[in-house]
Amino acid sequence: MSLLDDLADVGRAPGGGYARHGFDHAEAEMRDWFREQAGRRGLDVETDRNGNLWAWWGAPGPDALVTGSHLDSVPGGGAFDGPLGVASALEAVSRLQDRKFRPARPFAVVVFAEEEGGRFGVPCLGSRLLTGALDPDRARALRDPDGMTLAEAAGRAGVDPRHFGRDDAGLERIGTFVELHVEQGRALDVPVGVGSTVLEHGRWRFSFTGQGNHAGTTVLRDRRDPMLPAAEVVLAARRIASTMDAHATVGRLVPRPGGTNVIPSTVDLWLDARGNSRDVVAELAEAAERAAAAEGCTVTVTEESYGDTVTFDPALRDRLTGLLNAPELPTGAGHDAAILAAHVPTAMLYVRNPTGISHAPDEFAEDADVEEGVVALARVLETLST
Ligand code: GLV
Ligand code: MN
Ligand code: MN
Repeated sequence: MSLLDDLADVGRAPGGGYARHGFDHAEAEMRDWFREQAGRRGLDVETDRNGNLWAWWGAPGPDALVTGSHLDSVPGGGAFDGPLGVASALEAVSRLQDRKFRPARPFAVVVFAEEEGGRFGVPCLGSRLLTGALDPDRARALRDPDGMTLAEAAGRAGVDPRHFGRDDAGLERIGTFVELHVEQGRALDVPVGVGSTVLEHGRWRFSFTGQGNHAGTTVLRDRRDPMLPAAEVVLAARRIASTMDAHATVGRLVPRPGGTNVIPSTVDLWLDARGNSRDVVAELAEAAERAAAAEGCTVTVTEESYGDTVTFDPALRDRLTGLLNAPELPTGAGHDAAILAAHVPTAMLYVRNPTGISHAPDEFAEDADVEEGVVALARVLETLST
């Protein structure tokens, strides 16, 4: 889609993949693009208290039909996760406008802030703040890997963090939310499907403390090396998840100070667990304690985010599967739609992913499937807004 092509170079890391994170320069460029594109379609853009962007076609809410997604990426992310939903929404608006269609209810395209949690660690930051699922004091104090707080980053991007928090007026404007997204596994063998459920999932930080020391002079029996219990957790995560029909991933591990010839004094690792995640973590925490004690280290385990299983609105699902003659499918991926679903009737449309690869530079969707996604979204929006 040509709209997505506009974004091809924004935040692209030299080694491939995108680095577009909440309130950073690349994300700001994406937001400017969104404002410009919304303006071309005659939509009025506002930023809400939590840094989410709303482009209104006509007067804002109540009972608005809202569509959209996010523009940030995971570190090293692909081109489709997030931007596809936003670009498809804008393209669908163009098609409806070309047909002289006027929505009979308030209508908006939304861009949620920091959906991936790639910078500040908590996913769906904008939608969690909007709905009150994330405490604003906690949010303001979140730090990025360079130590900058979310409050400071948001402030620099022109969003006053003192206004963060549950936004009842903003929430009451939403009557229905529909998010289009690239499918992220190999669960769809036709161009477009309708979301049924989102798997429960969460993120935990395991922080190990030992004794920093010299790699050459410290005899093995004197070491208190926190990398050893950290390594045990990486292996145990796979072992335990496989016995519990769960997913467990360690995608980030930070030894400090981080020198090749230095036994680290601390190691932090982040676990992403999905499906029976709290049971997985309970067992893993015991394994971590045992491994830490064996090495003379300590460990603390902190839950950084959690989302229970979400089932999308059954009546809306039935309506969309009937309208589009499309299959339903569950997903293991988190979405802002899953946060909104506790508050308003919410649905998701997925566009086929031929390889199943996502959260990686190779993430892909065929042009023809992207086009079918736009056509399906336009149909859904037309139907739901009359
Ligand atoms: C977001 O895409 C997630 O599932 O982590
Ligand atoms: Mn994602
Ligand atoms: Mn996404």
